Amino acid sequence: MEEAFRLELQNITKRFDKTLANDGVTLRVKRGEVHALIGENGAGKSTLMNILYGLVKPDSGKILLDGKPLTINSPKDSIANGIGMVHQHFMLAPSLTVAENIVLGHPPTRSNIWKPSKLKEKMKTLEADFNFDVPLNAVTGGLTVGLMQRVEIVKTLYRGAEIIILDEPTAVLTPQEAEELFVSIRKLTQAGHTVIFISHKLKEVMEISDTITVMRAGRVVGTVNKEDVDAEQLAQMMIGRELKGVTRAEIDKGEVALKVDDLNVLGDDGIGAVNGLSLEVHLGEIVGIAGVEGNGQTELSEAILGVRKCKSGKVFIDGKDVTTASVGSRIEHGLGFIAQDRVKEGLALDFSIRDNLVLKSRKKEPISKNGIMRWRNASKMSRKMIEDYAIKANGEEEKVQSLSGGNMQKVVVARELSQSPKLVIACQPTRGVDIGASEYIRSMLVKLRDQGNAVLVISADLDEIMELSDRILVMFEGRKTGELSSSQANEQRIGKMMFGQNEGEVTEP
Ligand SMILES: Nc1ncnc2c1ncn2[C@@H]1O[C@H](COP(=O)(O)OP(=O)(O)O)[C@@H](O)[C@H]1O
Ligand SMILES: [Mg+2]
Repeated sequence: MEEAFRLELQNITKRFDKTLANDGVTLRVKRGEVHALIGENGAGKSTLMNILYGLVKPDSGKILLDGKPLTINSPKDSIANGIGMVHQHFMLAPSLTVAENIVLGHPPTRSNIWKPSKLKEKMKTLEADFNFDVPLNAVTGGLTVGLMQRVEIVKTLYRGAEIIILDEPTAVLTPQEAEELFVSIRKLTQAGHTVIFISHKLKEVMEISDTITVMRAGRVVGTVNKEDVDAEQLAQMMIGRELKGVTRAEIDKGEVALKVDDLNVLGDDGIGAVNGLSLEVHLGEIVGIAGVEGNGQTELSEAILGVRKCKSGKVFIDGKDVTTASVGSRIEHGLGFIAQDRVKEGLALDFSIRDNLVLKSRKKEPISKNGIMRWRNASKMSRKMIEDYAIKANGEEEKVQSLSGGNMQKVVVARELSQSPKLVIACQPTRGVDIGASEYIRSMLVKLRDQGNAVLVISADLDEIMELSDRILVMFEGRKTGELSSSQANEQRIGKMMFGQNEGEVTEP
């Protein structure tokens, strides 16, 4: 007899203007499994799940629950059928308490009218069964991201969800928080719940899922059992070609290119964001800064670039004190900068891709000669960068503002790295960028290092930090809580330091 599926999406198609976000997608999910839905940014994963949850109406296709056709016109319908979703961006009301958020929007009937005692009782079972303890009386806005996510999941369970969709849940979590989430996911499936887990992090997909469906460009590439594949094969399915991986040369590190000495920097709120931090980056070395976002990394990078004032302490580039120097003079000293907020700081949106790409080389040969622009050379160079970085655009004349976020990022990176800067500060260099292009960006950073330049990478993506760095610093509340060489580093160690626990393991390699 054929196995009955808990949930079937059949031949779902959805078009947004020019984009075919879902193109005849079929997804079959078994009862009690963790079914991972993976694919690069823009592959169509969220669209498919928003259709299942009733937030987006498909152009065509069918949804079956336990073999029976299901009509879903709004999230109300999906909730009534036991389907719950936790979005990439949380939808909790920050000023309400956790308890209020959990019952919010839950239509009170005579049997479930909200009584604090009743909620407590229900919470006790959720806590015991699924490892979900949440502080019911706390104000939601003050919780950590990990806790907020837990509240979101509890909220779906409180409404009776048996199929739980988690859209990129680990993107915002530390490794420890992700592990805790996985413990809960396992308990949920053991109790018969079904989990659809969206991710593009292959390591965790291999850890948590039973079945994996891979999407690419709006279509399903395949559905496989976890036992039958490895991460490499999944990556190939996702990007449609083989990944080469990043290799690095054995080189000796040189002089100190960047020195930050006992730096104190205030945040926008006037409170200390960077608190007495010191670091050095040598030529021929990549130093990575790990940490949960919002622990002073942004302010540190802005102080090094010169767009944020230092309260005290000093910054040296190439041995020169640049603490009060202008951004321009720092760039003249060899500083390249990949901004985190590329739209605000990195690009002239109203200009073409070409103009943005040659922004920093426009006064040099072969882009100009004797003060006269050589547009043919500018176009030629731009076309090569568009090809190398796989920037999705209709030619070099297209305005930057019409590109997707990931492609804008590639323009910034291509421009900054093409200058072969002696020192690069790369902030979240691959955020929002496809795996294929991420690999290229990382390989370019390593190439710069191999050529004897200095690189400081600031990233919330721990895998990225570990892949790139010769040395890793961990930041917590504006301080350095640990420093490890790449051979000493592992996720658990770094994860602890990200919470300010350093086990006295600070080492100076
Ligand atoms: N509301 C929308 N309007 C227009 N285009 C959209 C909308 N939602 C998604 N898209 C487009 O559909 C494609 C798939 O997006 P999405 O489902 O969010 O992908 P994923 O979740 O896999 O990253 C992308 O090209 C995206 O830009
Ligand atoms: Mg998505």
